[in-house]
Amino acid sequence: MTQKKIKLPHPAFGHPLPSGCGAGRGAGRAHVLSVSALRIERSGTVILDDVNWRVRPREHWVILGANGSGKTSLLSALTGYLMPTSGQISVLGETYGESDWRELRKKIGLVSSSVRQMMSDEEPALETVASGKYAMIDFWGRLTRTEKAGALKLLRQVECGHLAERPWRVLSQGERQRVLIGRALMAKPRVLILDEPCAGLDPAAREHFLQFLQRLGQNKDAPTLILVTHHVEEIMPVFSHVLMLQSGRVLADGKTADVLNAKNLSCAFGARMQLRRFDRRYALKVRLKSRALM
Ligand SMILES: Nc1ncnc2c1ncn2[C@@H]1O[C@H](COP(=O)(O)OP(=O)(O)OP(=O)(O)O)[C@@H](O)[C@H]1O
Ligand SMILES: [Mg+2]
Repeated sequence: MTQKKIKLPHPAFGHPLPSGCGAGRGAGRAHVLSVSALRIERSGTVILDDVNWRVRPREHWVILGANGSGKTSLLSALTGYLMPTSGQISVLGETYGESDWRELRKKIGLVSSSVRQMMSDEEPALETVASGKYAMIDFWGRLTRTEKAGALKLLRQVECGHLAERPWRVLSQGERQRVLIGRALMAKPRVLILDEPCAGLDPAAREHFLQFLQRLGQNKDAPTLILVTHHVEEIMPVFSHVLMLQSGRVLADGKTADVLNAKNLSCAFGARMQLRRFDRRYALKVRLKSRALM
């Protein structure tokens, strides 16, 4: 397959914070993301407990874990939608609670099922992408010529230039994912979070999408990618690190080659697993005997 080079816009560095903001700025300065002793509790349920996690520049991470292990909750905390009970979260050296959370949120692009569900049926793809600049759903304002040109450029970069006039309701799942990535990139985020982006894709569309992610992540100006998945098959070579969650706690984290093994996966998913690696990709075989069948 020919490798198309994706040219990304230069990352934004956010707006300068008012002086006096971000008293704890030193804490995670060298990190893109820094999570320390994070605990989230709601109505007596501990959702995340003692989560420590650091993401450095030029790393791309996969978050793996069983259903209910806390992956989406961790992302919600990172994007400022779920308030920690205790602990600290920093994005590019700025700490939630000390800096303006709206500014921090702008640095993180999110593609998730909750974002997908909010899209307006009739909105053409070009407007869906363009409205990402304002983090607005169902854009009602008029786009300037420059904004349109910028959105079209991005739409082409996510290899969907031909879909510019097509409304959301007719787009395929794979096309929707790419359009939403384009939309997220419109705000020039430093971090791009993808929560189960391959859900609903057929095998060929999934592979096309994963190859696209690989090209996206390889670009030197790419935002840090954070991919949430249950499937090791979706871990492309560009993903250098893995965070494994189990019942709201970190089971393992570090370089993909060190963390991704049958022992950790068996622990994370509660069944005996066999992991195979070929051609820089992974495959999993599940042995169900050890897990009670419902
Ligand atoms: N606001 C809340 N109040 C109580 N419990 C919650 C709340 N939000 C999430 N939970 C619980 O926290 C746990 C983790 O949920 P979360 O959605 O983060 O899991 P996940 O790893 O993303 O799972 P999946 O793979 O199924 O998407 C679940 O048991 C969920 O029911
Ligand atoms: Mg989830």
